[in-house]
Amino acid sequence: MIEIDHVVKRFDDYVAVDDADFAIGAGEFFSMLGPSGCGKTTTLRMIAGFETPTTGAIRLEGRDVSRMPPHKRNVNTVFQHYALFPHMTVWDNVAYGPRSQKLDKRKGKGKGKEEVRRRVDDLLEVVRLTDFAQRKPAQLSGGQQQRVALARALVNYPSALLLDEPLGALDLKLRHVMQFELKRIQRELGITFVYVTHDQEEALTMSDRIAVMNAGRVEQIGSPTEIYDRPATVFVAGFIGQANLWHGRQTGRVNRDFVEVDVLGTTLAATPGDTTIESGGHATLMVRPERVRVSMEPPTAEVVSVPATVTDLTFQGPVLRLSLAAADGSPIVAHVGAEQQLPMLRPGDQVYVAWSPEASLVLPAADIPTTEDLEEMLGDS
Ligand SMILES: Nc1ncnc2c1ncn2[C@@H]1O[C@H](COP(=O)(O)OP(=O)(O)O)[C@@H](O)[C@H]1O
Ligand SMILES: [Mg+2]
Repeated sequence: MIEIDHVVKRFDDYVAVDDADFAIGAGEFFSMLGPSGCGKTTTLRMIAGFETPTTGAIRLEGRDVSRMPPHKRNVNTVFQHYALFPHMTVWDNVAYGPRSQKLDKRKGKGKGKEEVRRRVDDLLEVVRLTDFAQRKPAQLSGGQQQRVALARALVNYPSALLLDEPLGALDLKLRHVMQFELKRIQRELGITFVYVTHDQEEALTMSDRIAVMNAGRVEQIGSPTEIYDRPATVFVAGFIGQANLWHGRQTGRVNRDFVEVDVLGTTLAATPGDTTIESGGHATLMVRPERVRVSMEPPTAEVVSVPATVTDLTFQGPVLRLSLAAADGSPIVAHVGAEQQLPMLRPGDQVYVAWSPEASLVLPAADIPTTEDLEEMLGDS
């Protein structure tokens, strides 16, 4: 449906998009996710036709559209700051596109006044605004206005809808409701959605596949579970969900499935990632906090374990967030559920942390992002 073929976009000598090369399938909900300034909007604007690639090509349904103006492309865009016509009713706002293309004046199948009425009524039903058709935008909530903007972008039946942080202006609760609505609408209509967001939870919830971007480059493309369970890089691991990341060295192989890693002041078996690391080479070990088990006695099951000291506890409702320190001082975070029957813990308590080697992943060595780094990345959009 959409092919991004080795696309580079430079602004003067600044590289905003660096060799983006991927394809989006028909009917797919595809997200571009990454911190502010990583090139998401620029990539989307090239698909829409508001920007031209410096090198490389964009193809829509097999056709090279790299130099085709936006209105000639069969795609439509919804922005965060959508502008509805304030003096028009909801119904007329949605009918604006087909009318400006004179669809209502033309004769024949799929044309004429009746066709415009049918399409507008259908789309208002899809976005659940039938009862609000005669209202003006000012009489609607933020979420309802955004649904009008959606209906308006969909009424010309684009083959893809491009959405640039469309929920960014809404409060958290409404954003959650709209995430479900968007997903439902996309499924119902079967249209390709290309969705830009810096919110990892939003991307994980809605997408069939996600392209994680960093500093103009696509670091990984995959389904939400692939990206969460098998991140390709330390950046992806830290940006998507929470992750324990520890510097170490890969020292050898345990068996067909596992390699050996010197980390946390000991040697552990771990799952190798997709990048080959030479024996003795630097590496980063990742374990998700919910995969870390905590016990008072050394575990006996088929797991790797290290002794650790409790440094802090935070009750977070469904889980207890335990901060610990390994013997070499490395921080460890464990999310402990109610099923792990632990006695009341206090800072200073000696425990064992453990995980099965399948729950760990060896990544190429890279600087480990701090909490401050991650906060800065999410600063503005
Ligand atoms: N028209 C432009 N001229 C110069 N630099 C630009 C222009 N548009 C975007 N950039 C720069 O390109 C980088 C990527 O921007 P953008 O695609 O908007 O990022 P994102 O949407 O991921 O936050 C940013 O550093 C931004 O400042
Ligand atoms: Mg942007």
